[in-house]
Amino acid sequence: MDPGVERCELCHGDGVTELSVGSGQGLISAELRPWVADRVVFVVTAAPIRRLHGDCLSDLGAAARQWTVLEVPDGEAAKTPEVARDLWHRILEAGGRRDSRVLTFGGGAVCDIGGFVAGTFMRGIELSHVPTTLLAQVDAAVGGKAAINLAAAKNSVGVFHQPQKVVSSTDLLSTLPPRQLRSGLVELIKMAMLLDGELLAAIERDLERLLVADASTWVPMVACAQRAKAGVVVRVARDAGERRVLNFGHTLGHAIETAQGYDGLLHGEAVAHGMLFALQLAERRGLDPALGRRLAALLARLEVPPLPQDLRAEELMEHAGRDKKADRDGVVWVLPTGLEAWEAVPLSPAEVAAELASFLAKGGTDC
Ligand SMILES: NC(=O)c1ccc[n+]([C@@H]2O[C@H](COP(=O)([O-])OP(=O)(O)OC[C@H]3O[C@@H](n4cnc5c(N)ncnc54)[C@H](O)[C@@H]3O)[C@@H](O)[C@H]2O)c1
Repeated sequence: MDPGVERCELCHGDGVTELSVGSGQGLISAELRPWVADRVVFVVTAAPIRRLHGDCLSDLGAAARQWTVLEVPDGEAAKTPEVARDLWHRILEAGGRRDSRVLTFGGGAVCDIGGFVAGTFMRGIELSHVPTTLLAQVDAAVGGKAAINLAAAKNSVGVFHQPQKVVSSTDLLSTLPPRQLRSGLVELIKMAMLLDGELLAAIERDLERLLVADASTWVPMVACAQRAKAGVVVRVARDAGERRVLNFGHTLGHAIETAQGYDGLLHGEAVAHGMLFALQLAERRGLDPALGRRLAALLARLEVPPLPQDLRAEELMEHAGRDKKADRDGVVWVLPTGLEAWEAVPLSPAEVAAELASFLAKGGTDC
């Protein structure tokens, strides 16, 4: 085994996902060559990513029996029913069958649209991810959730479809715009806060160094986050029980993204505000405010943009009410009860609305 590559296996109901994280030329090719060899492979990617890093895949293309690159719109614009329908047709027309494979090459949006199409085409064909953003490496590519957005609700149509391989090359992160890197760090912080206090302390200690880190420094961080997420998913593959921890900050975060038409704050930035709001709700239930202050201080160092002033509490409540975590008892909120501790509680809309109004009035995170 290559000593520079960190590996982890995620066992789930459908088999095993092999996760590998490393840096250095040749990683992607070495990890995926057997998986693409002599196969009909559809690569789902976006033009800017292909332009920057498409060369990393050229060896793989030569090993496949058929290699078809399918570009989707960049960013959140890829996660629509129209793009999914277009991909199904293009795959079918290009000879896609039950034993074809989908390889995604991009950030979380590409993982989601590619995973969704792979999970639905012919009732599901095999899938692997090469995530290219920090957010996708630490979160979106791991765990088998894949969804698209409706105009009125983020990630509201989706499937559980586990990838076979997730190959994370931290070399790819070198071209990420700083704001995207910071957005990814928020998901890392989310996981650290409720699953791995040592990781949180390491991020607090090394944040400024991480923001300018080289590829090899990122390898253990990304691997640590993937292991933390895999540890949850292995116990609960679907969105229930323990897996709900991963939704920390996402109920309000998704509502903010939806209210902004998926064209405002980045996903991690919206989640940062969502986490602080969840902490405010948790403090009403007795959480020590010190934890909220600790997270706010860390997010301030990340320079998370403030909440736009035109967000209205009523509209956010409406979007949150359509959240996947909502059932007939109301929206279930993931609230910290301490470091590495949390509860999932249904809260009445009236209770949340009052807190939300005060949260918005003080500008959300105050970062
Ligand atoms: N399925 C899941 O479990 C899960 C978990 C977390 C988030 N998500 C989803 O992930 C999405 C957010 O993902 P994201 O933050 O990666 O955003 P993204 O996929 O929209 O990518 C952000 C931008 O970074 C660019 N980019 C990608 N890789 C790059 C690179 N190496 N260098 C330079 N630029 C690069 C892209 O072209 C894009 O413009 C959201 O839709 C969110 O809902 C899904």
